[in-house]
Amino acid sequence: MKKDLLSLQDLSPEEITDILDLADKLKKENKEGTEHHILKGKTLGMIFAKSSTRTRVSFEVGMYQLGGNALFLSSNDIQLGRGETVYDTAKVLSRFLDGIMIRTFAQKDVEDLAKYADIPVINGLTDLLHPCQVLADLQTIREKKGTLKGLKMCYIGDGNNMTNTLVQGAAKVGMDIACASPESYTCDKDIVSAALKDANSHGSKIILTTNPEEAIEGADIIYTDTWVSMGQEEEKAKRIKAFAGYEITREMMRLAKPDAIFMHCLPVYRGYEASAEVVDGPQSVIFDEAENRLHAQKAVMVKLMGNQKL
Ligand code: CP
Ligand code: NVA
Repeated sequence: MKKDLLSLQDLSPEEITDILDLADKLKKENKEGTEHHILKGKTLGMIFAKSSTRTRVSFEVGMYQLGGNALFLSSNDIQLGRGETVYDTAKVLSRFLDGIMIRTFAQKDVEDLAKYADIPVINGLTDLLHPCQVLADLQTIREKKGTLKGLKMCYIGDGNNMTNTLVQGAAKVGMDIACASPESYTCDKDIVSAALKDANSHGSKIILTTNPEEAIEGADIIYTDTWVSMGQEEEKAKRIKAFAGYEITREMMRLAKPDAIFMHCLPVYRGYEASAEVVDGPQSVIFDEAENRLHAQKAVMVKLMGNQKL
């Protein structure tokens, strides 16, 4: 049966570890110049209803490095954007392609696409979730810290698709996560309830607070994201006001562990969610994190679209 990557909630801790191990192996081999042809003759269609730099480039380069091809399909240019149904799109694309990556607004559209497609579907970001990013984040944390279980991550800022997915990911791997957001900008409560089951099985914690200082205290990882996600441009002024006091500054970083790392999925807006000296400072690992999008997604594509062992 075909498999999709729609949400980290659908993966077991073992499946996550498997993807991360393969991502590490592919990264090492990539640095050594090893060539792969595991997806030779296969094509990934990449549907984008929102902008992208990292997701688009890393999926396209990833397919190329695995011996396959990638097609960029802007939703403005395909008939989906003019009202063709998700059902018909899924059925037709399944006749041409070997996998679909989709970045869009509603999680339900991604789930419907996966339901109707006969080929694997990968969630490249919705308003609710960003699983590919968090797999790359976990790979980065494991590289920097040597482990995942038992660490404390803090997330400060908007309770958005990144927060929701980080909560899921942390709970799956037994990491504590403390999220600090203003009262009306917290992460999704249903996602937190579902993730609590995973957290409880590891004895790890999910803490939701409005106090950034409380969240960052003793953290190994400090994570933030934009206060204005794609699709929220009209709320920009209101949001910037609401997030006053949530900027991650050097002073705030001092409350975390001395060897804590600073992470951000990017794009970052210096002087808003984090100060420039933090974003560009010695604790920041943002570009290693961005690079790992390539390796983690190659691992996902091999697992979902490959039919031989690497
Ligand atoms: N982090 C991330 O998904 O970046 P893009 O929006 O550039 O793809
Ligand atoms: N929360 C951001 C993430 C961008 C990668 C957004 O959805 O725009």
